[in-house]
Amino acid sequence: MLPTHVTLVDVGPRDGLQNEAQAVSVADKIELVHRLQSAGLREIEVTSFVSPKWVPQMADNAQVMAGLQRQAGVRYSVLTPNMKGFEGALAARADEVVIFAAASEAFSQRNINCSIAESIERFRPVAEAAKAHGMKVRAAVSCALGCPYQGEVSLDAVEDVVQRLQGIGADHIGIADTIGVGTAGRVTAVMARAMKHVPLAELSGHFHDTYGQALTNIYACLALGIHTFDTSIAGLGGCPYAKGATGNVATEDVVYLLHGLGIATGIDLDRLVDTGAFISTALGRKPVSRVSNAMLAKRATP
Ligand code: HMG
Ligand code: MG
Repeated sequence: MLPTHVTLVDVGPRDGLQNEAQAVSVADKIELVHRLQSAGLREIEVTSFVSPKWVPQMADNAQVMAGLQRQAGVRYSVLTPNMKGFEGALAARADEVVIFAAASEAFSQRNINCSIAESIERFRPVAEAAKAHGMKVRAAVSCALGCPYQGEVSLDAVEDVVQRLQGIGADHIGIADTIGVGTAGRVTAVMARAMKHVPLAELSGHFHDTYGQALTNIYACLALGIHTFDTSIAGLGGCPYAKGATGNVATEDVVYLLHGLGIATGIDLDRLVDTGAFISTALGRKPVSRVSNAMLAKRATP
């Protein structure tokens, strides 16, 4: 039995755009969020409050947040690596903060310049402060399916980080395939470990699509009853600290899959395709979404 409803969190404005070397205007970032909410997205990861020296593209975080015309029922989340990031998130009135620990030591060092254990201690006050302010805490487990520096990542390592994040108060756990190497069997095994500790309603998958496995991996998750996924409009993005990794699976492709399965998303696929075309045009390229390109080609056919 597959879920009857799936929640998609569009992480394109953050995970997608963070990887862009070219300038993207504040106005275009705001317009992207507005279009996503008009298309029916109810959870949007807008930006990150990380060091602008590390990720210059996100330096306009406060301006983007300040420019949003918020829609009731939409949750706006931001990535926060430490208390400095949290202060920014609080001032920007984010609804939710995203903390992120790696299941691989090597990646933790490259991404946030500290060990896994140190990162957990940095996130502890962030989670506490977020809760004190009524904000939800999402946690991502990076490199859960493989690491660009150390290769294989064990199931035990993933399970350990899941438990540590829960231990500091994470409300939600996202299992992330940062470099998109996972295949369905391994994804099922990793998710089964996570499900030992995390209720289905607070467990999600975050699949980069580097090896083209993301849709299959999402289907494997659906078969387990998992019904929340991070996706990225137009397949934008990647991680600056995972060279060669492509963006998250395109929101358009996942919506097409889900609607084909009779699973409700609350998302209007036509509007979503318009949104993907909008941001892709702003970036000067085609969407990285088979569904989007097929639908745009069909529309253009007399
Ligand atoms: P650090 O250099 O070790 O930190 O960086 P520090 O505490 O020594 O501070 C150095 C400087 O950064 C100081 O400024 C701080 O004030 C400033 P200076 O005195 O040199 O002028 N600083 C900050 N500025 C703004 N906002 C902040 C902040 N913190 C410190 N929050 C740090 C440590 C974590 C800050 C750094 O490594 C960093 O920002 N890394 C960015 C990591 C990142 O954004 N990675 C991509 C997102 S994660 C991802 O994509 C994975 C995910 O999608 C899931 C998946 O796919 O796996 C979530
Ligand atoms: Mg990611």
